[in-house]
Amino acid sequence: MALEAETPSFSEVGPLYAFCLLTSARPPRRFFLAARDNPPYDFPDMNSLSWGILGTGRIAGVFARNLPQSKTGKLAAVGSRTQLSADRFGAEFGVPRCHGSYEAVLADPTVQAVYIATPHPMHAEWCIKAAKDGKHILCEKPLTLNHAEALTVIDAARRHNVFLLEAFMYRCHPQTLKLVELIREKSIGEVRIIQASFGFHREFDPNQRLFSNELGGGGILDVGCYTVSMSRLIAGVATGKPFAEPTEVNGCAHLATTRVDLWAIASMKFPGNILAALATSTQVQQENALRIFGSEGSIFVSQPWGPAREGGKATIQLERKGKSPEEIVIESPQPIYAVEADHVAAYIEKRQSPSMTWDDSLGNMKALDRWRAAIGVVYQSEKSRK
Ligand SMILES: NC(=O)c1ccc[n+]([C@@H]2O[C@H](COP(=O)([O-])OP(=O)(O)OC[C@H]3O[C@@H](n4cnc5c(N)ncnc54)[C@H](OP(=O)(O)O)[C@@H]3O)[C@@H](O)[C@H]2O)c1
Repeated sequence: MALEAETPSFSEVGPLYAFCLLTSARPPRRFFLAARDNPPYDFPDMNSLSWGILGTGRIAGVFARNLPQSKTGKLAAVGSRTQLSADRFGAEFGVPRCHGSYEAVLADPTVQAVYIATPHPMHAEWCIKAAKDGKHILCEKPLTLNHAEALTVIDAARRHNVFLLEAFMYRCHPQTLKLVELIREKSIGEVRIIQASFGFHREFDPNQRLFSNELGGGGILDVGCYTVSMSRLIAGVATGKPFAEPTEVNGCAHLATTRVDLWAIASMKFPGNILAALATSTQVQQENALRIFGSEGSIFVSQPWGPAREGGKATIQLERKGKSPEEIVIESPQPIYAVEADHVAAYIEKRQSPSMTWDDSLGNMKALDRWRAAIGVVYQSEKSRK
């Protein structure tokens, strides 16, 4: 164990070795500990990040398709529960190394960072295993099933000194940065009401991850998590903080026979008398927009969750008392998942991103636990733990 804790990851050793070569400094002992296990592959350029993807589902494909448009990301490997699926994915996206297990991606020395794209109940397990193997982590949202699991994941990232980010890609996008600026400079005065919706319609299938209790189904965890994270961000910035936690959480929902929420709403109260009305669904197409009402005006964001998905223009509508309505245009040439991948590379040395810190993820998971508690959604793994 002592040896494991002392051994740096490949990504740490590459630049360290390059530094030693350039300066004739003697590599520290910990370099040799790692080098013994890692054959001498080409050391990566510090401005690039080589990725391994865990899972070959829908969002894994979107990430793989977008990654070549990032400035830093290279797709080195993919892992699936089956070799066949890994090979198919590899052929479609031109992935050099296709593994028939997730473990093999974690053992692959050409991989510096992993993108975890499994259903939510597997996030904690693979985050912890990735951290132990010294891989930096971008984990799909929600970070875990609940707050207790999120604590264990963050503890692992801290102990093994790896980067960890919950993949709320909208938080990395320039549109959200602009929104934060507008709230911070009080362009609509004091924020009073936040309305956010994220919901779509899918046919019911009890075995599909969106509807299966065992696979962490329900709208709240799938896309309601965006609305919660946005309201916590806006309420926080409005009161001079990076994010805020709700003092009250109320909710009601309609549940499926599988005991997951099909459509659900929440009302939350934040410090500063800020109220949020949030709605989510997996069987109702909603507006999927954000409205913020303040003492001096209002803001409307038509695409708050996936602004300019493939790159291009995103817009924020601003209405201020006594002034003509304004349209603020935000240009981003890159697709949103490429922006996210570059964001990981930019903050990797800091281990956390300022756009979604570990404390922010913990607060989000706690608020989601409270919303689920209000409507009585409990997952299989949570029941067996009691
Ligand atoms: N950021 C975004 O825009 C966005 C969008 C959609 C989803 N997501 C998140 O990404 C995650 C995956 O969503 P998805 O829509 O891509 O799901 P999906 O299409 O069902 O794919 C999930 C993949 O996870 C792997 N997996 C591992 N254990 C599994 C199990 N027991 N049952 C089913 N699949 C299992 C499978 O890959 P292998 O068979 O290859 O192992 C599967 O293809 C979720 O946490 C979701 O919240 C994020």
